[in-house]
Amino acid sequence: MITTVTINPAIDRTLIIDDFKVGAVNRVSRSIIDAGGKGINVAKNLKNLGNDVVCLGFMGPNGKYIEDVLNKLGIESHFVPIESDIRINIKIIDEKYHTYTDINEAGPDVSRDEVEKLISSINEHVDFSNVIVLSGSLPPSVDKRFYGYVIEKIKKKGIKVILDADGDALKYGIEAKPYMIKPNVHELSQIAGKKLERKDEIIEEGMKIIENGVSIVAVSMGGKGSLVLTDEKIYFVKPIKVDVKGTVGAGDAYVAGFAHGIYNNLAIEETIKMASAASTSVVMREGTKACSLKDVNELKEKVEIGIIERG
Ligand SMILES: Nc1ncnc2c1ncn2[C@@H]1O[C@H](COP(=O)(O)OP(=O)(O)OP(=O)(O)O)[C@@H](O)[C@H]1O
Ligand SMILES: [Mg+2]
Repeated sequence: MITTVTINPAIDRTLIIDDFKVGAVNRVSRSIIDAGGKGINVAKNLKNLGNDVVCLGFMGPNGKYIEDVLNKLGIESHFVPIESDIRINIKIIDEKYHTYTDINEAGPDVSRDEVEKLISSINEHVDFSNVIVLSGSLPPSVDKRFYGYVIEKIKKKGIKVILDADGDALKYGIEAKPYMIKPNVHELSQIAGKKLERKDEIIEEGMKIIENGVSIVAVSMGGKGSLVLTDEKIYFVKPIKVDVKGTVGAGDAYVAGFAHGIYNNLAIEETIKMASAASTSVVMREGTKACSLKDVNELKEKVEIGIIERG
């Protein structure tokens, strides 16, 4: 079993408005509702890749829709109920001027007691898991050391933890030495305290994290592919050339590909291929869609991996 934790789930509401105007009455021509939050997206991708997955995290009174969606997809979920409503993120697509506006809420107020309940829930469920994915932002009321604390606690059980977060949540998480992290270049730059651009700069910063005890640092670079650092080798994964329809959720599919490979004991090169193929499958589709297994099987054959000698 693979477990994903979504501490800050969201209902994503996409409004399609032609000629969207600020400060005016706008008419919505179509709207789409989606179950969002990074851990939930990772779970949908993992399910499509054929894995058993369980979703943990918080869920507010307005979140029944998300549980129904997961249920329909055959994804088990055991969320800790909280008193406050979860976020509703509004996305506005203007099809006339081709603009995309994202209005994201920060997240619900959660009490100390609710956080304790989530920690107990993670502790109980990970006994049935070999791999756990901690993904996404923390609600503002949750201590930035949350991921670090959870990693310390569950690592002792021999479970491999993948962390995909940003800012202080990632910084404190790294200190607890998860098995793997997947920052994008911007997130790694935050950790480094300077803007990283060139591959050698990214490798230098990533290697510091490897030397501190994280086993895999995969740095995604959007349309430029990714760099995967381990204590043995450094891999450069070329992007696969496809017709890009939307990049939302590419990182979550990449994380899912890695979790799939680690969980199924695939060799590192094979695991990298899964991650690259799954994320490419997502960018080929509009909106927040999960990868398709058919695409992944075809795209896997197209992944080119180079090995970079350590300088
Ligand atoms: N424009 C693109 N063309 C080809 N592949 C892409 C493109 N954008 C993203 N990808 C694929 O998706 C992977 C992850 O993308 P990215 O670096 O954008 O993740 P992210 O910033 O974490 O995204 P997210 O918003 O989901 O958190 C890349 O390493 C690459 O394999
Ligand atoms: Mg990301």
